[in-house]
Amino acid sequence: MTLDSPVLGLETSCDETAAAVVAGGEVVMSSIVSSQIDLHARYGGVVPEIASRAHLELLVPVLAESLLEAGVVPSDLVAVAATNGPGLIGSLLIGVSAAKALCLVWELPFVAVNHLEAHLYAALLDDADIEFPIVVGLISGGHTLLVSMRGPGDYRVLGGTLDDAAGEAFDKVARFLGLGYPGGPAIDAQAALGDPRAIAFPRALMSEGLDFSFSGLKTSVVNYVRKHPEVDTRDVAASFQQAVIDVLVHKIRIAARTTGAKGIAIGGGVAANSQLREAVMDLCDAEGLHVHLPARSMCTDNAAMVAAAGWHRLRSDGPSPLDTGAFPGLGLLST
Ligand code: KG4
Ligand code: ZN
Repeated sequence: MTLDSPVLGLETSCDETAAAVVAGGEVVMSSIVSSQIDLHARYGGVVPEIASRAHLELLVPVLAESLLEAGVVPSDLVAVAATNGPGLIGSLLIGVSAAKALCLVWELPFVAVNHLEAHLYAALLDDADIEFPIVVGLISGGHTLLVSMRGPGDYRVLGGTLDDAAGEAFDKVARFLGLGYPGGPAIDAQAALGDPRAIAFPRALMSEGLDFSFSGLKTSVVNYVRKHPEVDTRDVAASFQQAVIDVLVHKIRIAARTTGAKGIAIGGGVAANSQLREAVMDLCDAEGLHVHLPARSMCTDNAAMVAAAGWHRLRSDGPSPLDTGAFPGLGLLST
């Protein structure tokens, strides 16, 4: 396998239908994402059955576009990678089955990719000069994990959420405030207009290890707004967001210090948050660490990260058997 070997990646774990071609695990030749946000918005969250049906309709045009934009034909590819967990089972099965079918027809190896591992690789895309170890904050709608990455495929999970994921808290608070779905970008926008010091929301587990808890914060937002119905929504959004960021940055700092990290990366949908990105850059400045901030489009779900992770997995473990299943509750393997 040469360094420029292009891998086709497919991502269908939740409500984004995505396909991408990535060469050598880091050069993004194309990355097409078709979001289903409009289909789910009226229900206030992702409806699994609607998501699977939409993936079925969207996947072929999306993958055709990704090949066209990358300027490659199937015989140029070295593998087809697809997310096989964690995620919604019906949605995962669409991507996994499509990838296997393509591999049979195109006579290519199939690579099953862990969605969480893929988010870690998003931080490495277009950033070849990473000095390990780094601490990665994987902060999405389904997970909040602190990971020590000592090299590709070599991770130690340092902490995670005990209840809600950070993105889930953003979505629930936004829903309560009537800001719509998905909540993260809506709170991000409202927070920019509010005062982050207006309300002192709690910062949970600050001096208790590297785990997180966000469900108490969500409850205290609800209680506060019910008690003070006249409060400015922009101040609530800004104060809530600041509480989440303070906890994340505090624990990322401790994780970096205790593991002797050379740099910090963030990934997952919440890593697209404007204030969190600023705060992580400030943290790295203060601690003298390299900062690895993926482009916003690489933070939320996409297939470029799947193709990149697939390229590394193919190198380290070889192809996945064609009877590999899809696993809704797949975790990140800690070494
Ligand atoms: O990584 P992702 O696309 O999907 C999962 O694997 O979960 O993350 C989606 C999450 C949602 O909870 C969404 O509200 C949040 O990321 N999100 C944000 C922002 N953009 C997306 N949260 C805060 N600020 C944002 N700008
Ligand atoms: Zn994700």
